[in-house]
Amino acid sequence: MNPRIPHARPALLLLCALASVYSLRSQPPVPQGRPAPVAPGAPGAPGAPAPAVVGFGLVLAAATAAEKAEFTAGSGDFRTVETPQTGLGPLFNNTSCVVCHSAPAPGGTSHNAVTRFGRTEDGVFDPLTSLDGTLLHAHAIAPALLEVVPSESNVQAKRIPTPLFGAGLLEAIPDATIEANASEEPESVRGRAAMVADVASGEERVGRFGWKAQHATLLSFSADALNEEIGITNRLFPKAAAPDGNEALLAKYVSPSAPIEDQPNSKTGLSEIDRLANFMRLLAPPPAGGAPSASTVAGQKLFVSTGCASCHTPTLETGPNSSAALANRSVALYSDLLVHDMGALGDGIAQGDASTKEMRTAPLWGLGARGPYLHDGRAQTVAQAILDHAGQGAASSAAYSGLTASEKQQLLAFLGTL
Ligand code: HEC
Ligand code: HEC
Repeated sequence: MNPRIPHARPALLLLCALASVYSLRSQPPVPQGRPAPVAPGAPGAPGAPAPAVVGFGLVLAAATAAEKAEFTAGSGDFRTVETPQTGLGPLFNNTSCVVCHSAPAPGGTSHNAVTRFGRTEDGVFDPLTSLDGTLLHAHAIAPALLEVVPSESNVQAKRIPTPLFGAGLLEAIPDATIEANASEEPESVRGRAAMVADVASGEERVGRFGWKAQHATLLSFSADALNEEIGITNRLFPKAAAPDGNEALLAKYVSPSAPIEDQPNSKTGLSEIDRLANFMRLLAPPPAGGAPSASTVAGQKLFVSTGCASCHTPTLETGPNSSAALANRSVALYSDLLVHDMGALGDGIAQGDASTKEMRTAPLWGLGARGPYLHDGRAQTVAQAILDHAGQGAASSAAYSGLTASEKQQLLAFLGTL
């Protein structure tokens, strides 16, 4: 549980937050998902998900009692609504993790897109770091701090939140497994492991989280998100973002010598970023879809024959792990976790090791319980998402287009069970 904020009065705290924040759209951020007050999936409980999505947001079934306690503690942090008094801002995109990761259960996704910006000239991408690129902070604790996309920017991209179900299993897949799988892909569609310097360990690792595979570990991602999306400084990301890069303006609101905001709990030694990482690590994967039918079995064959499975690798294995719940498991993620040159579908932003055109193969598990699709949510249907594949995905997309209407239905039925 977050020691900085009592948990019992989220509505009241939210009101405080709303009264003291300002946004580009001159509207306070309105949480789109409602943090459920009960364990998600509890039948008949207020806020319980509809039957079709039961089973999302639970703790890994094989977790130990101690791990379940860690999950519960981190889940509290994930739902905590931050206020300026508890460290929100000065710049931020929203007030809690769960606001953006809410559907169909805490840990999921939402329509709350963020904006990335940069500049491309003569084919070279400039992240406009001195202007606080590439992430736009859409809200601030004072109107004077509000950021705008600078006029120097000629590339902007929206990104919707990726779901976190099963994130610990993705983290537990060894780099070598991802690299070995890459070498087996047909050359025309072969992806590339995105090599990133992991902020938490300092090691060069295979990135796997985010639309650009820009982080390798959940600890690094939670520290980045807590700082960039909510504005809480922490031991891995100790510096507050300066509005449009203006450090002098920031210094009027935050002393450069201010201590970091996310301090370890004196009893557990854990900081909020550690508890958030524990929560996500122990979050169960999306529940497997219903029993196979003749139609979904036929669809599964088409998934292979149209080339989807070359990038959307059906399963990868985790390696040894300090948690038995994560060790040596088969993970039905339907992704190779590699970045691919997606041509016109690329979002124009270079990030981590991924170029402007490269995107991480989106894991397809849980597909039936989310939408819209693709990094910016441009596709309202799964069929449209397939049609929008370009670059290395173009041939497979064309193969889908060449299917008969009933074959397309079979493939879509199969995708709905993942
Ligand atoms: C303003 C909305 C917003 C908030 C608040 C937010 N996120 Fe996210 N999250 C996103 C978006 C957008 C992405 C996709 C990021 C990308 O690739 O650019 C994402 C991606 C992630 C991922 C990557 C998962 C994967 O497999 O790709 C993790 C982990 C994550 N968020 C954790 C968190 C945590 C922890 C918090 C709270 C500290 C948080 N997020 C708060 C919008 C948000
Ligand atoms: C060359 C590799 C590649 C092939 C082949 C491929 N995909 Fe993808 N797929 C991707 C990448 C990369 C993304 C993420 C693109 C983005 O959002 O910018 C993606 C995204 C998707 C999404 C959207 C998921 C989401 O969460 O929004 C769906 C659905 C999908 N693919 C289905 C398919 C199907 C079905 C096929 C076969 C007809 C296929 N893909 C073939 C690489 C591939």
